[in-house]
Amino acid sequence: MKTLIKNGRVIDPANGIDALMDVLIENGKIISVTSSCNDNAKKIIDASGFWVTPGLIDIHVHLRDPGELHKETVKTGTRAAAAGGFTTVCCMPNTSPVTDSAERVEYINETAKKDGTVRVVPIGSITKGLLGEELSEMKKMKQAGVCAVSDDGKTVKEPAIFVAAMKLAKELDLPVLAHCEPEEEIIARDIALAKETDTKLHICHVSTARGVELIRAAQESGQEVTAEAAPHHFTLTDEDNPTYDPNFKMSPPLRKHADRTAIIAALKDGIISTIATDHAPHHEDDKNRSYENTANGIIGLETAIPLAISELICTGVLSPLQLIEKFTVNPAEILNLNLGHLSPGTVADITIIDPSANHIIDKNKFESLSRNTPFHGRKVTGCIVYTIFAGQIIYKGESIC
Ligand code: DOR
Ligand code: ZN
Ligand code: ZN
Repeated sequence: MKTLIKNGRVIDPANGIDALMDVLIENGKIISVTSSCNDNAKKIIDASGFWVTPGLIDIHVHLRDPGELHKETVKTGTRAAAAGGFTTVCCMPNTSPVTDSAERVEYINETAKKDGTVRVVPIGSITKGLLGEELSEMKKMKQAGVCAVSDDGKTVKEPAIFVAAMKLAKELDLPVLAHCEPEEEIIARDIALAKETDTKLHICHVSTARGVELIRAAQESGQEVTAEAAPHHFTLTDEDNPTYDPNFKMSPPLRKHADRTAIIAALKDGIISTIATDHAPHHEDDKNRSYENTANGIIGLETAIPLAISELICTGVLSPLQLIEKFTVNPAEILNLNLGHLSPGTVADITIIDPSANHIIDKNKFESLSRNTPFHGRKVTGCIVYTIFAGQIIYKGESIC
């Protein structure tokens, strides 16, 4: 069956397109992107006033499956992804057990095939059990389909282990995603180690002005270092949490005004090329503790686009093309995924966004199994109207638009 998406503002940064166009899809593939398509397709979607973009990609998501299914599962996490406009999520390995072997990767692949609404690409751990001691089975995990390695949630403390990991990852052409804490010290160390071993490095959730400067200096010297920012770090500062609400606690934490400003500037000038949510579901039992003892992390899949539009588009910081780049072609390039564009012949992963819908974030409407968000009740602009995965409508968002 053919579907024609008419009259939308097609924003496809990979192909340099930002224009009113029609997108024709059939059998799960993109047939054409043209200025006026008169095909008598069976299904017509009127996208007047909306953005039509490649399916969004989130390279930093915690699905909690296996091991903590009361927080999230592949099933609920991918539904949350669809509701957030994402058609691809890369899931971090800090599950229980840790994704450190081919068998664990296969479990995720099979579960995603069975229960998943969107594409799930697993990330393998750097060290066995995230213990920072012995390298995980990177080669076998690569064969089983991981797109990268990371010990996210933890920093690989021992430099010699990190160097060995980078050498092996380089041989296998697997990007290394680094969780750097304390941020500035470890970003500096990891950049130096990556230079020494001539490997590609990606810095997760950059949150400080100094972190940005370290990455900028490395990039300017010609080193291949990429970075992501999370919506909470370009939206909030530590001053937004005067009551020490546990829903504002994450790792790395909220920072100062100058840090938030630096993150926004780095998104504008491209030093930070990607927005990733660090979707980190937690159960109330883990959150409703004293601030010091509460679990780190907030959910992010279903608030990313409204926050990005409110903070980066409505303020004039980024153009729509620059924003969509950070959710599509740039994350795809970092992890070598052949996705994130609307080229004819490729899989029809498409997101339709209303960039001007005003609404109030309501955590009770989330598809995620968890509710740990600091954004409940926040006024925002922008919502997902349709998420299309391999030609199928997997989410239709009329409820909030
Ligand atoms: O806030 C965080 N939560 N940061 C991390 O690095 C890990 C994550 C989690 O798994 O909960
Ligand atoms: Zn992390
Ligand atoms: Zn994380």
